[in-house]
Amino acid sequence: MTLEQAISVLEKAGIENARFEAQLLLGITVKASRAQIIAETYPPLTPEQTHRFIQLVLERRNRVPLAYLRGSQEFYGLTFAVGEEVLIPRPETELLVDFAREKLADPVTPPLIADVGTGSGCIVISVLKHLPIATAVATDISANALTLARRNAQANEVAHRVDWVRTNLLDGITSKFDMILSNPPYIPAAEVAKLQPEVKDNEPLLALDGGEDGFAIVRPLIESAFRSLKRGGYFALEIARGQAPDAIILLERAGFQGVDARRDLAGIERVVFGRKP
Ligand SMILES: C[S@@+](CC[C@H](N)C(=O)[O-])C[C@H]1O[C@@H](n2cnc3c(N)ncnc32)[C@H](O)[C@@H]1O
Repeated sequence: MTLEQAISVLEKAGIENARFEAQLLLGITVKASRAQIIAETYPPLTPEQTHRFIQLVLERRNRVPLAYLRGSQEFYGLTFAVGEEVLIPRPETELLVDFAREKLADPVTPPLIADVGTGSGCIVISVLKHLPIATAVATDISANALTLARRNAQANEVAHRVDWVRTNLLDGITSKFDMILSNPPYIPAAEVAKLQPEVKDNEPLLALDGGEDGFAIVRPLIESAFRSLKRGGYFALEIARGQAPDAIILLERAGFQGVDARRDLAGIERVVFGRKP
């Protein structure tokens, strides 16, 4: 299959930016940058590489996300291995890392942070990379996600500062935290089926499905976070478009103070946060 044939296959499947994606897939195949592909400065494909390229193009035609085909995704300037066991890190989730860096910029004592539903580990690993004296507990209900997160922590040289726990939310964890961060599943169940095929057919349902109203995990998480924080500790939570007003009410009812929301680059209220008095 030539590059032009690959572009045509992807175009017919309705993939936007078919040329760009086909170039990336060829780059994955021959381990070359997109610039090298454009400049045609890569060696001719071996039969094995041709086979692999066809496979990648067909998988992409079937809407497997590019990040899964590449096996990695960039987040907060770091590289994370990703596979079908974890959500692909999204740029808007970087807001949680910014929040942690801002609030814990000058800690008096080494801060202890929790990341609930760590997935690929992108949040906790990025935070620890920027807060060299912090340590963390990262939880997930998925054992496979935790295995991958641990691998990502090793690759990013922070593994010795994270305790990985397979549990529901923060169940069974007795430590008290200076900050709890979470990007939980928050999509209302009926909305999941309407997501793009890349997401609904490929990313783990466990990472997406927030129950009937999207708050099935968020509600107990807010209660659990309040109990597990030290006095003065912060909680920040990613939410979906339109969920901020309800999430703010839930945080205030749980006892949090200074509750507010932050917008992402698209102007959507994406993170709500509060402080335990
Ligand atoms: C939206 S993904 C977020 C993954 C990652 N933190 C990120 O931001 O890319 C939610 C994660 O929560 C995990 N999860 C779902 N229900 C959970 C629960 N009850 N307790 C702990 N983790 C849960 C899922 O397995 C998934 O890894």
